[in-house]
Parts: sequence; structure tokens; C-alpha cells
Amino acid sequence: MPVTLKLATSLDGRIATATGESRWITGEAARAAVHRLRADHQGVVVGVETALADDPELTVRLPGYNGPQPARVVLDSRQRLHAGCKLVATARQVPTYVVATEAPAAHLLEAGVYVLTVPAVGDGRPELKSVVEALRAEGIGSLFVEGGGQVAASFLRCGLVDRLEWFRAPMVIGGEGRPAIGALALAELAAAPRFRRVQAQPLGEDLWERYERI
Ligand SMILES: NC(=O)c1ccc[n+]([C@@H]2O[C@H](COP(=O)([O-])OP(=O)(O)OC[C@H]3O[C@@H](n4cnc5c(N)ncnc54)[C@H](OP(=O)(O)O)[C@@H]3O)[C@@H](O)[C@H]2O)c1
Repeated sequence: MPVTLKLATSLDGRIATATGESRWITGEAARAAVHRLRADHQGVVVGVETALADDPELTVRLPGYNGPQPARVVLDSRQRLHAGCKLVATARQVPTYVVATEAPAAHLLEAGVYVLTVPAVGDGRPELKSVVEALRAEGIGSLFVEGGGQVAASFLRCGLVDRLEWFRAPMVIGGEGRPAIGALALAELAAAPRFRRVQAQPLGEDLWERYERI
């Protein structure tokens, strides 16, 4: 399954301040490019912390766009997503999945959310290769992972990321900000995931870099 990881960061690779403020790091042109990339994928994935902090819609919103909306997928072991979130409230308009490790919660099923129960690994979170398989079985053939840092790190640790779409804004947030990529637990530099840059292009004030896995 093709998996693209999108990152919208400061120059120092941060995606939010320490208090979680992240709107907006990149400018309008970068955000429009993200919407075009969403439209090219069948599923958009976020972690539950991003879903709770940002309350995103994760839809394609472009002038004149009337193509299909990708399914929205939230990795949420304990089903913390609540009925007040936009993703849950609009689940009957746009297919919305919660990937959990427990039996489906009533408040999600009642709202029309599809809950996929996937076995947990050591950290109590759904095992990502099983997540990808479960989504493929639902007919979702490509994934656009939009963060946050913990989910980005999990996909990289499992070697599942084929492409990076990295939008970099000319600002510095500092070490207390939230990292774009959480801990990878690398034993040595040779184990670091490596990518080849295939394109770099200015987008307004920002820089859009595209990478493929080597
Ligand atoms: N600048 C940007 O473009 C951008 C994009 C996205 C997010 N953000 C910001 O990033 C912050 C949130 O990022 P975050 O790193 O704290 O959280 P996150 O990656 O959004 O969510 C992490 C949570 O997802 C759940 N999860 C389930 N399966 C997982 C797996 N296999 N691997 C990792 N997590 C899994 C875990 O909660 P359970 O254990 O309860 O399941 C975990 O605590 C917010 O402040 C948001 O605003 C910024």
C-alpha cells in the first residue's frame, strides 16, 4: 500500500509550540498543495492527539473540486475521539474510521464511524502493519499520513513510508516545540530511514520538498 507522510514544519522541524498551537505554520499556498495531495489519496491518517488538539475536517477543500473525498482514519487505541469532534459529527457525510484495540464504542458507532479493532503491540497501540491490512480490506488503497509526531515516527519505525511531502516555513519554534517526528529509537546512524529528494520548490514564503524512500 503506498504511504505518503506529510509534514508542515518550522525550519527546525517543529509542528506546534509546546502548548500545541500549530495553526498556521505554513502559508496558504502550502495548505492548498496539501489539499491537492489529499485528493490524490484514498485515506488520510492522523493520531488521536492531533484529532483532539486541532479538531480537523481532513477533507479536500479546493475551489471547484467535486471529486471523491478520501476516508478519514484516526489511530485511537482507546476511542477517545468524542461526539463533539468534527470528524465524528460529519462521519455520515465523509467515511470516517477509528482504529482501536478494543471493541467498538457505542458513541462512535451511533455517529456512523467505522471502528476497526486491530491487535495491540507492546505499547498498547494498534500494530501498524495490521492497520494497513485492515484499511486495505476496506478498499482504501493509499494513505496520506498527516501526523502528528508520534504517528509519523511509528510509520517510519515500521518502514512503511514511501514518500515524504515536507512543507517548511521560514520560522524557528525551538526545542520545546512539538517535534515533527517523535522518537525512532535508532541504535545507530546506519539504521536511520533515508530518502532521496526528487523535487524542491518555493510555495509562497515556504519551501516544498518531495522525497522518495531509497
Ligand atoms: N504542523 C502540522 O502540520 C501538524 C500536523 C499534525 C499535528 N500537528 C500537531 O501535533 C500535535 C499532536 O501530535 P502528537 O505527536 O502529540 O500526537 P499524534 O501523533 O497526533 O497522536 C498520537 C496518539 O495517537 C495514538 N496512536 C494510536 N496508534 C498509534 C501508533 N501506532 N503510533 C503512534 N500513536 C498512535 C496514541 O494515543 P492512544 O495510545 O490513546 O491510542 C498517541 O498518543 C498537536 O499539537 C497538533 O496540533 C501539527
